Amino acid sequence: MKAAHSHTQLLRTMAASENEKRSVELSGHVGFDSLPDQLVSKSVAQGFCFNILCVGETGIGKSTLMNTLFNTTFENEEVSHYEEEVTLRSQTCDLQESNVKLRLTIVHTVGFGDQINREESCKPILDYIDAQFEKYLEEELKIRRSLCTYHDTRIHTCLYFIAPTGHSLKSLDLITMKKLDSKVNLIPVIAKSDTVTRSELDKLKRRIMSELVSNGVQIYNFPTEDEAVSEINCSMNNLLPFAVVGSTDDVKVGNKMVKARLFPWGSVQVENENHCDFVKLREMLLRVNMEDLYEQTHTHHYELYRRCKLEEMGFKDTGPDNHSFSLQETYKAKKKEFFIERQQKEESMRQMFVNKVKEAEVELKEKEKELHDRFEQLKTKHQEEKKNLEEKRRELEEEMNAFNRRKVAAETLMGQALQGCSQQPFKKDKDKKNFFSLPSACSLTSGRNLN
Ligand code: GTP
Ligand code: MG
Repeated sequence: MKAAHSHTQLLRTMAASENEKRSVELSGHVGFDSLPDQLVSKSVAQGFCFNILCVGETGIGKSTLMNTLFNTTFENEEVSHYEEEVTLRSQTCDLQESNVKLRLTIVHTVGFGDQINREESCKPILDYIDAQFEKYLEEELKIRRSLCTYHDTRIHTCLYFIAPTGHSLKSLDLITMKKLDSKVNLIPVIAKSDTVTRSELDKLKRRIMSELVSNGVQIYNFPTEDEAVSEINCSMNNLLPFAVVGSTDDVKVGNKMVKARLFPWGSVQVENENHCDFVKLREMLLRVNMEDLYEQTHTHHYELYRRCKLEEMGFKDTGPDNHSFSLQETYKAKKKEFFIERQQKEESMRQMFVNKVKEAEVELKEKEKELHDRFEQLKTKHQEEKKNLEEKRRELEEEMNAFNRRKVAAETLMGQALQGCSQQPFKKDKDKKNFFSLPSACSLTSGRNLN
């Protein structure tokens, strides 16, 4: 009851303030109605940039279509079918139409769909798109920003070239488009549509659209909110994907020179709406919806990237107790978090170092023990050997002593024998022989020899 009362009171207050609103009658021209013109002239002076990403197989007609679209000749280097991985090549050129300057960047995929393993085919494309968002975010977060003069390289639209051959989309097309749809304004086109008949084309278009819908691929829909363009955009949305033909050749048709592809049986005129949807694509992309493509890129795709990135970095719109975001508080919280994290890291590293030292110490002790054991072993062995040698030496000494004793005895004996001989000379040679055959004499002789 109380709430209802306060609600009525609030409504009354609002009505009163509505009535109180003053409409000031201007006595003369003040000039703020020229603000839109000021903005226009400022934008025109600054110039614009527009970035198109062309994704499609090698040789599907990407460069030709871009050259036809902007009536210019970009460097068109033919790409081999043997690239090891998908890469992206960008070309930038400055164009001018009336007094409006446009810095146009065309980014092509190189080697898309040429690898046997195509799992990684769309990764370089996604990385490229993210890298451009990242560059913009970095500029935005700089202390001294210069966004007015910044060359914005974010992709404003992605033309996905579908091959006209086959009955519908290839799985690579589906997977790639599914991954691209949240990052760019995705516009699928059927390339080289002059190679299929009208009925085949209608069937192909229907199939492609139903496959995109059933797989939840969000392609760019021309906006229908603005009354001025809602009708045309509505009808164009029903004609997606556009079937395009590209050609930079001027062919004489009747008495006019037109861009066309000439065949022995006739010509396909690029700008003839009965022949293909090239004009529709050009109108939708450049004349009617270019501004919306900018806006969608900035407010939808970039915004999504920025949000995820800032959340990843730990920023939140509300604090833990649902307080509104304060940069200073977030900074302080992050600093504290970082400090704690650093301390923890330091502690874990210190612990790791201590453990390593302990391990090394244990290892060293083991090694020392091993060495000590080995030393003890060697010492025992050495002592045993020394003991054995001592034993041997002693034995030899004993042997030597025994020998010496025998030698002395023999010498004494020999001396006695010689004495006897000098007193009683030898009678016969036979006696001499007998003397020398005596065992004591033998040992004497051998004893001498030994000495
Ligand atoms: P890469 O840069 O090498 O990947 O090729 P691309 O996709 O840029 O193809 P490009 O524009 O170089 O065209 C390859 C061939 O297809 C050329 O011979 C073109 O003349 C031809 N071509 C381009 N557009 C069309 C088209 O709409 N219809 C037909 N029939 N042929 C086309
Ligand atoms: Mg090319």
